[in-house]
This record gives sequence, C-alpha cells and structure tokens, in this order.
Amino acid sequence: MTQPQSASVTSPILSLGALVRESESRLDAAGIDQPLLEAAWLVEHVLKLSPLMQRVNAERLISIAEWEQVRALVARRVAREPLQYLLGTQEFLGRDFDVTPSVLIPRPESALLVDEAVRRCAQTSGATIVDVGTGSGCLAVSLALAMPTARVLAIDASAEALVVARTNLAKHGLGARIACYHGDLLAPISKEGLTGQIQVVISNPPYIADEDVATLQPEVRDFEPRLALVGGHDGMKVHRRLLEQAPAYLKPGGVLLMEVGLGQAAAVCRQAEEQGQLHTYAVLQDGGGIDRVVCFEKKDVSLWPSSR
Ligand SMILES: C[S@@+](CC[C@H](N)C(=O)[O-])C[C@H]1O[C@@H](n2cnc3c(N)ncnc32)[C@H](O)[C@@H]1O
Repeated sequence: MTQPQSASVTSPILSLGALVRESESRLDAAGIDQPLLEAAWLVEHVLKLSPLMQRVNAERLISIAEWEQVRALVARRVAREPLQYLLGTQEFLGRDFDVTPSVLIPRPESALLVDEAVRRCAQTSGATIVDVGTGSGCLAVSLALAMPTARVLAIDASAEALVVARTNLAKHGLGARIACYHGDLLAPISKEGLTGQIQVVISNPPYIADEDVATLQPEVRDFEPRLALVGGHDGMKVHRRLLEQAPAYLKPGGVLLMEVGLGQAAAVCRQAEEQGQLHTYAVLQDGGGIDRVVCFEKKDVSLWPSSR
C-alpha cells in the first residue's frame, strides 16, 4: 500500500479494521501461525486498544503515523523477530517480565525449576538460593515472591542481561531483596562466604549443541542471545561445569536443579554420579513428557561410615 501524496503526517487515511486486515494478510503471507491474533496484538501495542475494542471500533480512522508504526512492527515480525521482543514483554508464572534481545524469552517449562525449589525449601525459613544464568530474572523473581524469607542471588555472564533482570526486579518490588552478580557461573559469589551455605542452586543453562543451532526456528536462531542458547559441542558444557562447582557451595542435603534439553538428562545424571558428591533424586518431565529438569542432592558425608 502506498501513502497518499497529499496526506499530512497526522491526517487520517485508513480505518482500524483495514489496518488489522492488512497486517493479518502480511503476517499470513510470511507463514506466521496465528496471523490475526498477532496482528491484533501489534495493533494493540501501538494504539492501546484491546483486540475486542479494535473490533468495536473497526470504522475508526487512524493517522499515517499510527499506520506507519504498526507497519514497521509487522515488517519486523515478517522478518521473524519474536513477538515478545516487539511487545517487550513475556508472561511467566502469571507475572509480566520485560524482555529485550539481550535475554532469553522465558519458557513455560522452566516453571518446573521454580516449583521444585519451592517444594525443597518448604520447611526452611531464610533459605539461600542462587539462580545461575538469570537472564530476564524470571526464575529469581518467582522464587523470591514465592518464598518471602529467602535470600536470592542472581548471576549472569551477560552484563546486558543483568540490566534487564534489574528492571524486572524493580518492577516486582525486589530491587533491594535480590542481589545481582556479573560473571561466570558461581565465581562472582566466591567471596560472599557462602561455602556450604546454599540450599538451592537453580539454573536454566544454555543447552543447544553447536551443530543443532542451524536447525532452530529463525525466531530463536537469529534473535535470541547465543550466550543464552548454545552449550558447546553436545550442549552440556555449562551443566558439566556447574556440577563441578555447585557441591562446594551447597549445604548437605542442598540441591542443584538444572534444566536440560531433549535427550540430555541421562548423560548429565551420569556425570553427577561419577563426580561423587551429588546423587540424583528426581528427573522431572515437562508437559510434553520430555525429561526437562534434573534434580541432585548433596550427599551428607558426615553420615558416611569412616574407613579405618
Ligand atoms: C537459557 S538462558 C536462561 C535465562 C533465564 N534463567 C530463563 O530461564 O529464562 C541462560 C542464561 O545463562 C547465561 N549464561 C550463559 N553462560 C553463563 C555462564 N558461564 N555464567 C553465567 N551465566 C551464563 C546467559 O547469559 C543466559 O542469560
């Protein structure tokens, strides 16, 4: 569609209904799964009118400026930029989180990590919990709000991700309660005096194998941060390193909970057993029946019979 030559930037040129239909048809032609729904959400983002009110006001005229804003968003979606980055938000466990291309878009299956951490801390007031690779901060925020007495620490190797995490901590009133650290795995908290003090280390590490990156959906492959996605030749590089580091920080009976990719659970559990200080107490499946979260408990060596 071309812009009328004589129209000024503010003059109304198109009805709302026509804008939604045009957007839907461009998204549909690009192979987007739910083109009408996504068109309505993008229009809502610009015009602040719900999809229902868009239908009620279908005859309302919109300005060229509004039309151009929607058109620019639709073009980005046609190029497969994730809808969440365009809208700037994603829901996780019933709360809204800001998301930018610096952070992974929270996935519903990661709620398994939160549920298990809460279950393990049910009897412990003032538990210390560390979220390694916090990204948007969705896990740290959910944990802190579910456990008002817990001390929560959030770590990420990406300084840009931590900017987003801090925004989300503030958004949920937790800016003063969750401490953020920048750096590699547990190294940033090595001087916090937490050796043998932590009840839960929780992590959704990057777990895509190098060679599988090319097979990902373009929304993931081309837009989500590599550091959040890719975990070395077999996708388990970060899991292995965390299995080595976490036991020193966990209390006896403390737990390490890690999300894993399809087909990785057995290998990660084997590595934990070989390493000797942890034992696998559960492997949790997601809604699709995939082994998604591996759960390890630190053995209490004080209960072991002494060898004479
Ligand atoms: C899969 S994302 C998970 C983000 C968030 N926890 C979630 O569940 O949505 C992995 C996160 O780990 C971070 N990360 C990757 N390698 C890391 C490392 N060696 N140390 C600390 N953080 C790391 C990435 O920057 C990214 O934010």
